[in-house]
Parts: sequence; C-alpha cells; structure tokens
Amino acid sequence: MDSKFCCCVFFTLSALTFSVAFSELQHEQKILLVSFDGFRWDYIYRVPTPHFHYIMKYGAYVKQVTNVFVTTTYPNHYTLVTGLYPESHGIIANDMYDSTRNKTFSLEDMNIYDSEFWEDATPIWITNQGAGHNTGAAMWPGTDVKIHGKFPTYYLPYNESVSFEDRVRRLIEWFKSKKPINLGLLYWEDPDEMGHNLGPDNPLMDSVISDIDNKLGYLISELNKEKLWDKMNLIITSDHGMTQCSGEKIIELDQYVDPNDYILIDHSPVRAILPKKGKFDKIFAALNNAHPNLTVYKKEDIPDRFHYKYHQRIQPILIMADKGWTILQNRSNSFMLGNHGYDNALSDMHPLFLALGPAFKKNVSKESINSTDLYPLLCYILDIPPLPHNGSLANVKELLSTTAPKAISPSVMSPQSNMNLKVYKLHSYAYFVGVFLGSIIVIVFLLVFVKHLVHSQMPTIQERNAEIAQPLLWS
Ligand SMILES: *[C@@H]1O[C@H](CO)[C@@H](O)[C@H](O)[C@H]1NC(C)=O
Ligand SMILES: *[C@@H]1O[C@H](CO)[C@@H](O)[C@H](O)[C@H]1NC(C)=O
Ligand SMILES: *[C@@H]1O[C@H](CO)[C@@H](O)[C@H](O)[C@H]1NC(C)=O
Ligand SMILES: *[C@@H]1O[C@H](CO)[C@@H](O)[C@H](O)[C@H]1NC(C)=O
Ligand SMILES: *[C@@H]1O[C@H](CO)[C@@H](O)[C@H](O)[C@H]1NC(C)=O
Ligand SMILES: *[C@@H]1O[C@H](CO)[C@@H](O)[C@H](O)[C@H]1NC(C)=O
Ligand SMILES: *[C@@H]1O[C@H](CO)[C@@H](O)[C@H](O)[C@H]1NC(C)=O
Ligand SMILES: [Zn+2]
Repeated sequence: MDSKFCCCVFFTLSALTFSVAFSELQHEQKILLVSFDGFRWDYIYRVPTPHFHYIMKYGAYVKQVTNVFVTTTYPNHYTLVTGLYPESHGIIANDMYDSTRNKTFSLEDMNIYDSEFWEDATPIWITNQGAGHNTGAAMWPGTDVKIHGKFPTYYLPYNESVSFEDRVRRLIEWFKSKKPINLGLLYWEDPDEMGHNLGPDNPLMDSVISDIDNKLGYLISELNKEKLWDKMNLIITSDHGMTQCSGEKIIELDQYVDPNDYILIDHSPVRAILPKKGKFDKIFAALNNAHPNLTVYKKEDIPDRFHYKYHQRIQPILIMADKGWTILQNRSNSFMLGNHGYDNALSDMHPLFLALGPAFKKNVSKESINSTDLYPLLCYILDIPPLPHNGSLANVKELLSTTAPKAISPSVMSPQSNMNLKVYKLHSYAYFVGVFLGSIIVIVFLLVFVKHLVHSQMPTIQERNAEIAQPLLWS
C-alpha cells in the first residue's frame, strides 16, 4: 500500500510540474517586427489604409516616435534592435569612414559586411539566441552580417529583388519549423525608394502607400491562413520619415570651400567633413555662416540632444541642412525630390508605430515614445535579459496588456531587476493556467486513487488503472 501511495504522489507531482512547464511553453511570446523603410507617421491618414487602421483600432498605436539622429536607414535600424544611440552602437551613418582603421562603410556598393563596424553593440537576435531561442530575418539591415561571430538562426542574404511575398513566406516557414523562431524581422524597401524619387508631396505617392497597405493585408492573411495570427505580436514600424525637397533649395559647397581641402563623407542632408591636414580652421571658418540654411558644428559642439558626439567615426566637422534643403558639392551632382536624415526633432522625420498581439493592450494609444524604447519592449516580451541600452521600458508599459507584469524596471536594467521581472512573470497568467491544469490532474489522480483503494482486492482493475493513468498524464 505504501509504495502505491508514493507512486501516486510521484505521478501527481510530475503532472503538476509538467503542466506548469507546458503552459509556460504555450505562453512563449512570438514577435514579428516589420519595418517599411521611410514610412512617415502620417502616411496612414493620407489615403485609405484599412489594414493599418485595423491594427490601430484593435491594438496599440503611438503617434510620434522620436527616432535617432541621423535620421537614415542603417543608424535607425540598428537602434531599433539594440536600443542604443548611434554614438554608442557605432553605425553612425549609412556611409562612414573609420580613420583609425582606414576603412570605409558604404551603402552605395553594399560595402557593409566588415564586422568591425557593427561590433560596438550586440543586436537582439544574438541575445535571443543566447537565451536558447531562434531568430529569423528577411533582409533587416545588418542581419546578414557576421556580428561577434554570429548570424541570426535563419536569414536571407540581402537581395532587394526578393519579393515581399517571398520574404513573408520564409518567415512563416521559420515560425513553423521544427526549430521555430520566436522573433522574426522583416524589412521592405518602400515607401522610401519611391519617396526619394517622387517626393512625399507628389500625389503619385498615394498609390505607393496603398500598395504598402495591401502588403500588410497580405501579411495578415497569410499569418491567419497559417494559424499564426492569434499568437503573434505584430509590430509595424519604420526607420524614418521623408520630407519634400526642391531644386531651389540647394547648398553648393564648392561656392564656399576648396574641394581639395577636405574629404566629404555621407550624403545630404547631413554630411561629415574630414579636413585635410592643417585645413580644419580654414574649412570651419569658410562654412560657418556660409548659408542661412546650413548649420555647421565642430564635433565637440554637436548638441547633446542628438546623442551624436562620442564616437571616433564621427568626423571633426558636421554640417546639417534645414528641412527640405540639399547639400551638394556643386549643381552637377544629382539631388532627390524627397529626403530624410535631417534633425530628428522634425515630425517629418518620424516613423509610424503600431502593434497588435497578446502582449499588447487592445485599442490603446500613446502620444510619444523614443525609438530606443523598442528594444527593452522586445526583450521584455521575449523574456530575455536586455543589454545596457538608452531606452526605457517604463515609457512603453502602457501599451502592454494586463497579463504583462505591473512591476516595470528602470531604463537600464541591472541583472538584479531583470531577475525580479522573471519572478513576477512566473506569477502571471501562464502560471495560473499551469496550476489550474495541474490541480485538475491532481483531482483526477485522487479519484483514481480512491477508486483503487476501493477495488484494491481486484488485481485486474488495478492493472487497468495504471494503463488509464498513463495517457491521462500525457494527454
Ligand atoms: C587607406 O587605404 C587606401 C586603400 O583603401 C590606401 O590607398 C591609402 O593609402 C590608405 N591610407 C593610409 C593612411 O593608410
Ligand atoms: C536576387 O533575387 C532574385 C529574385 O528572387 C533572383 O532572381 C536573383 O538571382 C537573386 N540574386 C542573388 C545575387 O542571389
Ligand atoms: C532658411 O533660412 C531662412 C533665412 O534664415 C529662414 O527664414 C528659413 O526659415 C530657413 N528655412 C528652413 C526650412 O528652416
Ligand atoms: C562637381 O562635383 C563633382 C564631385 O561630386 C566633381 O567630380 C565635379 O568635377 C564637380 N564639377 C564642377 C563643375 O566643379
Ligand atoms: C477605442 O477607444 C476609444 C476611446 O479611447 C473608443 O472611443 C473607441 O470606441 C474604441 N474602439 C474600439 C474598437 O473599441
Ligand atoms: C525620450 O528620451 C529623452 C531622453 O532620455 C527623455 O527626456 C524623453 O522624455 C523621452 N521621450 C519620451 C516621449 O519618452
Ligand atoms: C547609452 O547607453 C550606453 C550603454 O549603457 C551608455 O554607455 C551611454 O552612456 C548611454 N548614453 C546616454 C546618452 O545616456
Ligand atoms: Zn532613404
């Protein structure tokens, strides 16, 4: 009798443990982070965009996201996945020159694969994988670069000819694979490309925006079809906005400085100037006050609000055009009708932010966040420890659903506070589901046990009970 009792207790405890673990597993959050390059925050008010509005209405929405300076693609995408300002993550521009290593980084010819440029930071996919999860990336900037010796679990080498539909198909495969991902990163080049060519004020942009809405619709319907929709936390954002430029707003550097006296790095409207030996004072004096729509900074005088000073790849002189102005060497260089890169305080530079899924409240909106806040939000939802960053989880906590913890830790989490977070999470929804299921199994076992006591003198039933117990436990 004693050994049978022990056996029963053992099974009961295993059942409890198993069901708690199982419900934790079931509760594992999935995120699909989508970036539509150059999607300005207000594009969704310009033409009917029913899919964006669906997410807005049933999910979380932020009106103004302050992105990071310079408001270009690579610096901002790296901020989204590290939570760091460019001066800390090191991708300070789309085109960079590293004078200590005599190396260049350039988007022009996709000369971006030198790991050293990326390794001031550790992006979220590496941390996610370090915590035992898998990541999948479809063209997200930097995901096909080896960083600290690692790539995402699954990724596509950058190829802009791969269709949106193919990128979505691959991500869905990864979410459903035997080694499923919990984090997917999806990047699409438009509306940035068309925004540059047409200028955002061009009425032809309307159909470009409608097309993006259709792409979002496609993504939603595929997730639905593959039964991933209900469990997915879909986050839709972008790197920056876009503003209208014109041929009347051109600043020609050749009018003020001799092109032989400096090296010009990066593209309009914020350009880095590396004066040649002994030419710093001459260049600075010639450019400072040269044009009313050109602001010229010595590196050490770049305003703190840009968080764009403390990196060796930031050059000795930074020049920045006013909104809508273009900096060229001379008029024979081409210019674009739409551009970005300007001051990140300008609302035209701001991207959109929408999210829908079990981790988010329904129908909630917030006036503003910083784009650095996305990183702690992602780490929190994925339940992985964030590395030191410049965002704040507290800034985004109102967007999280009530099943998410109430205790929100400070912006830069110590390992200690992260532990507290984990403990809290264990007491959340998943835990109670686990205990509930466990209790049911305990009750079933007690019933079986009582039945067994009653019929203990009948060996055949005793044997049958053991058989019944097994499938019950694992069903
Ligand atoms: C930097 O590299 C280029 C080739 O990439 C070379 O021509 C140049 O001499 C190098 N400069 C220095 C200072 O090493
Ligand atoms: C890029 O993708 C296109 C379309 O899928 C394909 O035809 C092409 O071969 C790819 N290019 C490279 C370099 O893989
Ligand atoms: C360009 O400079 C002029 C003169 O200072 C100023 O009035 C105008 O507002 C500036 N343009 C922008 C877009 O800031
Ligand atoms: C204009 O600038 C380009 C470099 O951007 C230079 O190659 C060209 O010689 C310049 N043209 C004139 C007329 O100075
Ligand atoms: C969303 O919330 C607003 C108030 O904040 C309310 O007016 C609106 O009806 C809600 N919409 C839905 C779909 O619940
Ligand atoms: C953005 O970050 C700055 C600097 O940390 C902070 O002062 C500001 O309150 C943040 N903005 C929002 C909307 O949280
Ligand atoms: C941003 O975070 C990094 C990493 O913690 C830190 O070194 C840096 O000082 C922070 N920057 C600001 C402006 O707080
Ligand atoms: Zn662009």
